[in-house]
Amino acid sequence: MPRALIVGNTDGIGLALTRRLLDTGWDVVGVSRRPSELDSPAYEHVVADVTAADYARQIGNFGTGGTVDLAVYAAGIGEPLDLANLGEQTDAIRVNLLGAALTADAVLPAMVEAGRGHFVGLSSLADILVTPDAPGYAASKAGLTSYLLSLGKAVRKHGVAVTAVRFGFVDTKMAKSPVAPFKISVDEAVDVLVRVIANKPSLISYPRKMALAARALRTFSRP
Ligand SMILES: NC(=O)c1ccc[n+]([C@@H]2O[C@H](COP(=O)([O-])OP(=O)(O)OC[C@H]3O[C@@H](n4cnc5c(N)ncnc54)[C@H](OP(=O)(O)O)[C@@H]3O)[C@@H](O)[C@H]2O)c1
Repeated sequence: MPRALIVGNTDGIGLALTRRLLDTGWDVVGVSRRPSELDSPAYEHVVADVTAADYARQIGNFGTGGTVDLAVYAAGIGEPLDLANLGEQTDAIRVNLLGAALTADAVLPAMVEAGRGHFVGLSSLADILVTPDAPGYAASKAGLTSYLLSLGKAVRKHGVAVTAVRFGFVDTKMAKSPVAPFKISVDEAVDVLVRVIANKPSLISYPRKMALAARALRTFSRP
């Protein structure tokens, strides 16, 4: 059976993707700070915080050991800017960017050695924005997209794929903004991820109309 690691899967996109993979015959190891509500013999949960000093060690062997065919980094946070609490922006960079890098660090060497595997990171169309609203989120996603695209080029010749997924608004608790144009359902986001897992592109921006809107916003947002 194919085996996946999904980091950030007690909620939102990560939870829905985990359910879809379990329904279609995958073994899944999930990681998040809270215990999981999932109850399946094909599912194992590791309670871990990606910002903890021992995170890399905690996911080092995914509980039962062995490599994974697929790793999806779906953990993410984002708070609006509060100038009295810039720590929240720093936290977004820690979780969204550093956590993803630590996860890649834990799984990619084994994939390269095996000559196969796929690492998927959930970035965002916000990766091109200069925004006073959520600077930590935008910076974390800019860094994440860049890191994934660069890593992907490095590991492709070893038979390993890396995908940066740039969603617009997805209907989860994270999409709190009252203005969320072209918002898609979690199911639609999972449909996109299933195609990503099948086709292994290096980059996907979805939905297309929101990607075009983000490009226009970038033009206006740059100093
Ligand atoms: N929703 C959107 O509109 C949207 C758009 C573009 C991109 N994205 C990206 O897609 C990803 C998933 O977003 P979502 O909307 O599904 O978010 P969500 O519903 O808020 O879920 C986030 C997941 O991340 C986990 N998580 C958060 N901090 C963590 C930590 N320190 N350590 C381990 N796990 C942690 C949470 O579990 P615990 O609380 O149990 O730890 C939860 O399972 C994020 O990277 C987000 O930036 C979302």
